[in-house]
Amino acid sequence: MSKTIVIGSDHGGFNLKQTLIDTLEGWGYTVKDEGPHSPESCDYPVFAAKVVKSVREEGTLGVLVCGSGQGMAMTANRFSGIRAALCTNEFHARMGRAHNNANVLCMGERVTGVGLATDILKVFLETEFEGDRHKRRVDLIDSIEK
Ligand code: RB5
Repeated sequence: MSKTIVIGSDHGGFNLKQTLIDTLEGWGYTVKDEGPHSPESCDYPVFAAKVVKSVREEGTLGVLVCGSGQGMAMTANRFSGIRAALCTNEFHARMGRAHNNANVLCMGERVTGVGLATDILKVFLETEFEGDRHKRRVDLIDSIEK
């Protein structure tokens, strides 16, 4: 997995996005910031689409932040090949990666504080997909979609 992480938000997730960019860079990741680049009101589907397209093209992991995390997750999961996990704790993040092979982490700035969001992000990035029976189930998601 590449060390580049793609990230985006809307206005509701802008502050957490900026903080997580600094955190990721501090951990040695290259961050591709798909915006927005100011905290003005904007529409989350626009930025979710930009991030998931980059995730698919670059085969890397993505992070999406809005107020609740829900609009980002709903939008991201409309794109084939994207498995977006809305996480409010480390267990969600660990299982999302280990069992569901999630490739996009969604969080809500109005739900999750910076400290917990940082821990969730760390677990998400450091947990590997376990494959095996979980691969069969994840493959079923794709086959059902077709
Ligand atoms: C914006 O007010 C808010 O609706 C958005 O950030 C997000 O929570 C949507 O799911």
